[in-house]
Amino acid sequence: MTGEEIRDRQKRYIFPAVGNLYREPLPLSAGKGKYLYDQDGREYLDFFGGILTVSLGHVHPRVTEAAAGQIHRLWHVSTLYQNENMVAYAEELARVTPGDLQKSFFTNSGTEANEAAALFAQLHTGCREIVALRHGYSGRSFLAMGMTGQSVWRLGGTQAAGIKHALNPYCYRCAMGLTYPSCDLKCATDVEDLILTTTSGRVAAFFAEPIQGVGGLSPCPN
Ligand SMILES: Cc1ncc(COP(=O)(O)O)c(C=O)c1O
Repeated sequence: MTGEEIRDRQKRYIFPAVGNLYREPLPLSAGKGKYLYDQDGREYLDFFGGILTVSLGHVHPRVTEAAAGQIHRLWHVSTLYQNENMVAYAEELARVTPGDLQKSFFTNSGTEANEAAALFAQLHTGCREIVALRHGYSGRSFLAMGMTGQSVWRLGGTQAAGIKHALNPYCYRCAMGLTYPSCDLKCATDVEDLILTTTSGRVAAFFAEPIQGVGGLSPCPN
C-alpha cells in the first residue's frame, strides 16, 4: 500500500477518535535505532520516541529477540497461572527501585496503571477524593480523563467525582506570575488550602509526576 492508500483507509475504517499529527498524516512502516521509515521509503531522524516511550530506540535487537522468543514459546494463559518471566521481571524491578518498594502490579497501559493506583489508594485509606495536577495527563478512561488537567484531552466532560486539581509547580510559566525563590513555593503550600477548602479534608492520593514531561501536549486538529 502507498502512504496515500493508508491515509484513505484510515479515514474510511478507523474510528475518528484518534488524532494524527500533520495536516497530511504520516504512515510509518519501519524503524531502526533513531531512524524511522515511511511507507514510501523516506528516512526520518526521530526526535519524538513514541511520545517518550521508545527510550532504547526502534527495534532494538535484544528486545526484539526476547519478544519474539516469548511469542514463539507461549502467548496467553491469563493471570490465573504463574510464569517465570513475570516473576523474574518483578524481581529485577524490585532490585532497581529505591527503598522498600518490592512489589509490582503489571498493567497494559498508563491509563490502567493510574486506575489501579487510584483504586489501591482508595482501598488502603478508606478515602475517595484525589488531588491531581493542572496540566497533567493521566490517560483516557473516565477516571484518568478526570485526573487529567487539560481540557483538550477530556472529550465528553469530566464524569468522575471527587477529583481536585492543584497548581502545577512549573517555574517557567508560573500560574501565579511569581518567581522562584521569592515565590515562597506558593504552588506547593496552596495544596493544603486546596485540600482543606475543596475536599472533605481526607484525600486518598495525590497524583503528581515528578517531571512534567508531556504536560501541555495538545492533540493536533485534523
Ligand atoms: C504521564 C502519563 N500518564 C498516563 C498516560 C496514559 O498512558 P496510556 O496511553 O498507555 O494509557 C500517558 C500517556 O501518554 C502519560 O504520558
